[in-house]
Amino acid sequence: MLGIIGGSGLYKLENIKIRDEVYVNTPFGGPSSPVIIGELEGKRVAFLARHGKDHSYPPHLVPYKANLWALREIGVNRVLAISAVGSINKLFRAGDFVIIDNFLDFTRKRDSTYYEGKFSAEVEGNDEVARLLREKKVVHIDVTEPYCPQVRNSLMDILEEKHFKYHPAGTYACTEGPRFETAAEIRMLEKLGADVVGMTGYPEVVLARELTMCYASLCVVANPAAGISGYRLTSKEVLELMAEREENIKEVIMELILK
Ligand code: HPA
Repeated sequence: MLGIIGGSGLYKLENIKIRDEVYVNTPFGGPSSPVIIGELEGKRVAFLARHGKDHSYPPHLVPYKANLWALREIGVNRVLAISAVGSINKLFRAGDFVIIDNFLDFTRKRDSTYYEGKFSAEVEGNDEVARLLREKKVVHIDVTEPYCPQVRNSLMDILEEKHFKYHPAGTYACTEGPRFETAAEIRMLEKLGADVVGMTGYPEVVLARELTMCYASLCVVANPAAGISGYRLTSKEVLELMAEREENIKEVIMELILK
């Protein structure tokens, strides 16, 4: 099943029938919201609101491990994460979509792995991941190519068909937040090769990989990053742009469910 991690409101997708609202408890605590199970033309889809139903979890306090584990428990094997980003690359403009293909991690204090060796959680299940955790293994996963090429290709096809402006690749820098960056931090990230900046893409991407789920992220440029436009950043600007793009985001999601 496809899982969507996004802002609240997505369960209001037109044409999608809501089948269930599941409250999952996990060995890593509760997820930020119940998981909504929907159906479109016989295909099932799961939705999870990253920041909670009422947007009460700031980026640095999102229960990322519980969220990914909850999706896995429900049977999700493909994940599409929707994220607002600031643009660092000057070719990326507000409103553009970006199908990111790599990341730089600048977070500081996030719980970012299930594999904690002898400190690993007690979990149930017969699959490989559950076995490795139960055996308290030390595991190093490969993230050379962190985002799922199949979902990325599907997104490219959809965005192409819909004539939405998009960039087929980009490096995402994840900062700790919740404050926005300084102009100097953005200059540093630019020198290091980042195209966009956000606060929620990490550790989601690596946790999904640890659980062997195919994960891709569709980013929406909400604003020029700090110091690029010369004016101050506000969350209002980010939310307004996301609201403007909401219909387009929903269209992309519906097409992906059907693929
Ligand atoms: N910085 C970090 N996160 C963001 C931004 C930004 O400029 N815009 C949207 N999310």
